Parts: sequence; structure tokens; C-alpha cells
Amino acid sequence: MIQLTIDGTKIVAQPGKNLLQVCLENDVYVPHLCYMEGMEDPPASCRLCLVEIEGVNGPVASCRIAPRDGMVVTTQSQAVRQLQRSALQLLLSAHRVDCRNCASNKRCALQQMAKFLKVPLKVKHLDHLLDETDYQLNHPVLEYDPGKCVLCGKCIYVCTRQQAHPVLTFARRGFETVIGFMGSTPPSELPCLDCLACSAICPVSAIYPKKPEAASSHSPGPADQRLNGVGKQ
Ligand code: SF4
Ligand code: SF4
Ligand code: FES
Repeated sequence: MIQLTIDGTKIVAQPGKNLLQVCLENDVYVPHLCYMEGMEDPPASCRLCLVEIEGVNGPVASCRIAPRDGMVVTTQSQAVRQLQRSALQLLLSAHRVDCRNCASNKRCALQQMAKFLKVPLKVKHLDHLLDETDYQLNHPVLEYDPGKCVLCGKCIYVCTRQQAHPVLTFARRGFETVIGFMGSTPPSELPCLDCLACSAICPVSAIYPKKPEAASSHSPGPADQRLNGVGKQ
């Protein structure tokens, strides 16, 4: 077992868990978005799970830290909170907030973190990021809302874990990054309808099943062709 100190409290942890897990399992809430239990190589892309570790320069992403014996961890310093607020504000600036009409309302990670960090949900938007009309996922049974997506990558991760031939990937680059469909599989052979793991895991309801009538009328569009092969070796 490993003994460490978190916010002044001595904690005993099992080896093999990362520091974020150890904090959460010991009722120390650390905001987080992109990490999922079981990830061997967390992407650490949301930059929310920051903590300070004695002897380490500057805050670090706890989802990528293996606890060590004698480690002294602070989760609530001013520097940590300021960086977490900035990271959350950046996410929210590219997210269309419409809680009343959102399937994630009241079980939403953004709402929980905004309340915890005292950040308003409606922040100034980066308007050019919210032009959602020029992108369609063009998936036979899934709908995707780029104006809601916070690019946590969880949908891609579960798709990769569940399917021998995953169909979701990141597409485009930089500010235009979206979730893409690797649409080379014939619709009748797609595993999606019996899976929907991406929709279940999405923290903001940005990817979700199409209504049955919309799903049955799908025909491949330009984006299917454009994204064919994206992410393949
Ligand atoms: S995902 Fe969360 S913050 Fe965004 S609209 Fe839905 S409930 Fe509101
Ligand atoms: S669709 Fe949802 S799960 Fe996928 S990257 Fe966007 S926010 Fe994350
Ligand atoms: S949960 Fe650690 S960086 Fe996102």
C-alpha cells in the first residue's frame, strides 16, 4: 500500500491507481472531464484535474500521476483553482449552453464543475467556433451537435474499447476539431445501433441516437466520403 497526504489528511492508497482516482475515492473532489476509469494512457486534454505536489514545479494533471509513498498533495490552492477556472471557461466558450432543453440537465459535468468553481455557465462565446451549420456527422443512426461537443474524447475512447473496428475519430484540426465518422462500413454492418456506448458516455449529450425515421432515410453524404479512412493507419 502507498501512504500519501492529500490536503493535510493522511491517505492509504492501493498501487495501480492514479492520483485523480485516489482523490475521488477519498471524497476529495477534483474537477475532471476527459478521464475515464480504466484508461491506461489518459489524454489529459481537459486540463481540469490539476493539483499541486510538493517538490514539483507548478500544478500537474492528477489523472496522469501515479501516487508515491510520502507524496504531499494540495488540491485547493489559489493557483490550481485559477487554472481550473480558466480551463472551464475555455470549454464553456465553445459550448452552446441551453440547459433547459438539454438531455444532460442536472447530471451534467459542466454544471457540476461550474458550481464548484463558481464560474458562470454562460461565458463570452468565441463566436467563430459556434458556426455549427457547416458540419454533419453523416452517420446512419447517430446525430452529433458540434456546438455542444466539448471534445473530451470519451465517445472515441468507448468506441475503440467496444468495437474491433471503431467508427468515431477526431476530424479536422485546431479550433475546427469535431468528432468524425469513419464511414466506410456499410450501414447494415455498423455495430452502432446495438451499442450506443458513445451516446451513453457523452457528458453533454452532444452525440445521441437519431430518431428512427431520420435514421432510416440516411444516405452517404460528402462528409462520409471526406472522412473515409480518417484515423486509419
Ligand atoms: S451540457 Fe450541461 S451545461 Fe451544456 S446545455 Fe446541457 S446541461 Fe447545460
Ligand atoms: S461528442 Fe460528447 S463524448 Fe464525444 S467528444 Fe464531444 S462531448 Fe465528448
Ligand atoms: S481529467 Fe485529467 S486532464 Fe482531463
